[in-house]
Amino acid sequence: MRKSFEIETENYLPQLRELYVDRVNAIEPYRSARFGQPEFQSVRLEVIWDIVSDCKSVLDVGCGRAEFIEYIDNDVAYHGIDLVEEFITWLKERRGHWPYPWTFECHDLRDEPRPAEAVIGSSVFALCNDEIFWSMLDAMWESATKILVFNCKSTCAESMDGWEDQDYDVQYFRDPFETLKECSKRYTSKILYRHDYFNGDFTLGIYR
Ligand SMILES: C[S@@+](CC[C@H](N)C(=O)[O-])C[C@H]1O[C@@H](n2cnc3c(N)ncnc32)[C@H](O)[C@@H]1O
Repeated sequence: MRKSFEIETENYLPQLRELYVDRVNAIEPYRSARFGQPEFQSVRLEVIWDIVSDCKSVLDVGCGRAEFIEYIDNDVAYHGIDLVEEFITWLKERRGHWPYPWTFECHDLRDEPRPAEAVIGSSVFALCNDEIFWSMLDAMWESATKILVFNCKSTCAESMDGWEDQDYDVQYFRDPFETLKECSKRYTSKILYRHDYFNGDFTLGIYR
């Protein structure tokens, strides 16, 4: 079982800023989200798109540079939110004028819902603790009119081969089975479970 690191709640926003602000303008999109390899970003996003591709509106929580836009159809109404304001400024400057239904906002979903058919969160819980995890998931569920999809690092990871370039000592891991069980108690048992695309990551799709 992988050991999980839990951040102090009061350090959450300062630590997020410390991790990401310097990376906002990185040349490669995967580096802006602190991934060691492009596949760590793209495979997770592909798995999510596979699950939500029939949805007509998407709320992307912790959107970073909104790479998910590369996967969606042009008529999907996409709203990206992030706690790091610099990502949103970057997005408004670069993607805000494209002729597609894309909007971006610096917003904490726990303050107010933003309804969408699909509410997604990819690699959002790398820096986290149980309290933040469940408060975020509750807020995401409240906004999801069809499905909530998120991924998280799995305590079932056999090894972290090839992932050494990331700071795994300070990352948040969850037991996928315990998480599935708790989600089915809290929300619904209509849950899709994937633990097949990486060693060390799982995705849950929770249907209304
Ligand atoms: C590893 S990046 C992933 C970005 C994007 N989802 C992707 O897959 O390319 C994590 C992002 O989540 C954001 N984030 C973390 N916790 C958040 C929260 N509670 N609400 C909104 N954004 C959050 C961070 O600021 C950062 O931009």
